[in-house]
Amino acid sequence: MEWKIGFIGFGTVGQGFAEILLEKKEMLKEMFGINYKVVAISDMLKGSVYNPDGLDIKKVLEMVKEGKKLDEYPDGVKGLDALATIRETNSNLIVEVTYTDVKTGEPALTHVRTALQEGKNVISTNKGPPVKAVKDLMKLAEENNVFYGFEGVVLAGTPVFNLLEYCLAGNTIREVKGIVNGTTNYILTRMEEGMSYDDALRKAQELGYAEADPTGDVEGWDALGKIVILSNVIFDANLRWEDVPREGITNITLEDIKSAKDEGKRWKLIASAGLNEDGKFYAKVGPEKLPLSDPLAGVSDATNALTFITDELGSVTIVGPGAGRRETGFSLLIDLINLNRKMG
Ligand code: HSE
Repeated sequence: MEWKIGFIGFGTVGQGFAEILLEKKEMLKEMFGINYKVVAISDMLKGSVYNPDGLDIKKVLEMVKEGKKLDEYPDGVKGLDALATIRETNSNLIVEVTYTDVKTGEPALTHVRTALQEGKNVISTNKGPPVKAVKDLMKLAEENNVFYGFEGVVLAGTPVFNLLEYCLAGNTIREVKGIVNGTTNYILTRMEEGMSYDDALRKAQELGYAEADPTGDVEGWDALGKIVILSNVIFDANLRWEDVPREGITNITLEDIKSAKDEGKRWKLIASAGLNEDGKFYAKVGPEKLPLSDPLAGVSDATNALTFITDELGSVTIVGPGAGRRETGFSLLIDLINLNRKMG
């Protein structure tokens, strides 16, 4: 099957994925038998363009880099909004990479739902829809015999959901615990070196780790969204974001960090969920002062890590990038390869 891709949103992550698609076109064909073309792009700020025979992605990327609107593309249909792009184009794979709103899930939730209902496959790094309705969306995909891939919503391209689906399958997972927000981990690392909170946040924004509104990172909303998704996928917990206690890092001072260091400890923003000692389910997000012997204490900069506590293997920790243009774009490539394996 040829994948006819429609991008909904064409910001940092969308462009990162488009670059990877372009650079790896031959490799994808040779190694995985994947044939694709990008037929449509619709972005709230950049406009839209649709050509059923395929767009020249190199040209589109150049145009966007020069600050041009997609409507300036030399041919094709212009002016289709997100829903029209989903419904009215010949795309069979929607890449949903608009901005995240953890609280309402919108507008991405409507985009993903509509695409699945239309019988189109979806791959997406947007946390909003799975925070609100991951199980419903997985069911909707199954009912419509299409694929919904969201590997990148936790730990970007570092494997999490594929790890669970394939490599950790057969284990009972008791708990999951980790550093799932790159921005806050970056800030805490810089603060330990003496940089002020404000400077460290600015730097994290410059490096492209932070959300469009960085409150989402520093107040723990991003981590909250991720632990809700993990809880609902792993433990079928039926959690809503309102159910999870949340605290960010804004109350941590340079003095707190220094005194932790003197004790041989380190502050980290930890998201965790699972069964506590009484066998009751819990989920939470908040700063924790970890001893340096804890593997999560050694994870610095924007790197993320997740520890799975399993019955057969004990603790399994995966460490890797959790944010970034190419790193998140790459998660969409994993989803595309998986889609092709399952539905191609
Ligand atoms: N703002 C997020 C972070 C991006 O800093 O981890 C990835 O979800």
